[in-house]
Amino acid sequence: MKLIRTVEAMQAEADGARRAGRRLALVPTMGALHEAHLALVREARHHADHLTVSIFVNPTQFAPGEDFDRYPRTLEADLEKLEALGGVEVVFAPDERAMYPGGQAAHRTWVVVQGLDEHLCGRFRPGHFRGVATVVAKLFLACKPHVAVFGLKDAQQFLILRRMVHDLNFDVEMVGVPTVREPDGLALSSRNVYLTPEERAQAVVLSRAVEEARRLAGAGEQRVTLLVEAMRRALAEAPLARVQYAEVVDAETLQPVDLLQPGREALAAVAVFFGNTRLIDNAFIRVPPG
Ligand code: PAF
Repeated sequence: MKLIRTVEAMQAEADGARRAGRRLALVPTMGALHEAHLALVREARHHADHLTVSIFVNPTQFAPGEDFDRYPRTLEADLEKLEALGGVEVVFAPDERAMYPGGQAAHRTWVVVQGLDEHLCGRFRPGHFRGVATVVAKLFLACKPHVAVFGLKDAQQFLILRRMVHDLNFDVEMVGVPTVREPDGLALSSRNVYLTPEERAQAVVLSRAVEEARRLAGAGEQRVTLLVEAMRRALAEAPLARVQYAEVVDAETLQPVDLLQPGREALAAVAVFFGNTRLIDNAFIRVPPG
């Protein structure tokens, strides 16, 4: 497994692999790797024979006051996990200067996917998806993958990046991997380490809430206000939870809907604070046609 630190060295590695006829996959991460990241790596192996995992805590997707400074940085442990898993050709771990020469303030080119960031996390994290889309575009241009693999826990991120790939003609196949969960349903997240034992126990309400929306929809309920009420009732079971949002949106436009439409997919999503720790979860709701 090679550790590559600069964009130029990464591009040379990718060019060489492409010339040798390899199919390249990229799993972009911010490190602090856990089982859900390893699931992305395992999935990537099915799509390619040259696998790069990028590890970069991207400053431009954190707003002032968010957890950029305290975000866990565990490169040594991450490398050990990937080595033990096997099948990873390259870890691309640039530092901030390599990705943003001259610093963030000197950066002038941004990727904005308009309209898809007005709801859910985008409403509460201004600039977040601009930072994500920009860094992922830069990672694509550095790592030159044929296929890129992302977790669907960050569903809005995946849908925005898929739209960016479509609109900017990136020749990259986008693969989304279902959320990996603890036995009680809590979605795995690098931020779960911040939770106290009491918060951790109560955090199970996120998955219960989105599952409740899916259950009701499966039972034929089409009225979104009732799905949202049910999600809020489930979240209210956790006295330590502060709900930021509980919404149901169209899974393609990411705009709110009043009624689930047959044949269309919707996304039930929640964001909840426990203390300063913000957790998200979601469930795709497929409404059968007719
Ligand atoms: O999902 C993440 O870990 C990050 O948002 C990503 C896609 C690696 C971009 O920094």
